Amino acid sequence: MKIYVLNGPNLNMLGIREPDQYGTANYNDLVKKIKTHCKNKGIKVVTFQSNHEGDLVDAIQLAYLKNADGIVINPGAYTHTSIAILDAVKAVSIPCVEVHISKVEEREDFRQVSFIRSACQKTITGKGLDGYIEAIDFLAENYKD
Ligand code: DQA
Repeated sequence: MKIYVLNGPNLNMLGIREPDQYGTANYNDLVKKIKTHCKNKGIKVVTFQSNHEGDLVDAIQLAYLKNADGIVINPGAYTHTSIAILDAVKAVSIPCVEVHISKVEEREDFRQVSFIRSACQKTITGKGLDGYIEAIDFLAENYKD
């Protein structure tokens, strides 16, 4: 099984940005946690972060070209604005899980919209970095070879 884990804008600032919302671990800690978990489970994983919407669209299309079996995506603020990222996930038809480190449903009104949600099999919020692990496990459990 091969999974792409994609992170959007400002997630490279983990550990620095709003630690009360996002915790003190940095992006490298997140990547290490994901890679260790996937290695233990025998899952191939590709991690990618970008601050640019089009690069995230390209990464979703690349997941398709590379025959990925699942996508875990935290689109950051593009969650609330990007139809292009929604369209990309719909275009590739790869099972997708939306992850948010913070509990978005308890935050500002503008965070209550998620364009990508309708194209995702599951949404995980407010579980910190563990949310990514839960997303990977969900995709693995539902994986049909
Ligand atoms: C976030 C929540 C978004 O509203 C915010 O713009 C982010 C991070 C989260 O992981 O909780 O950048 O996706």
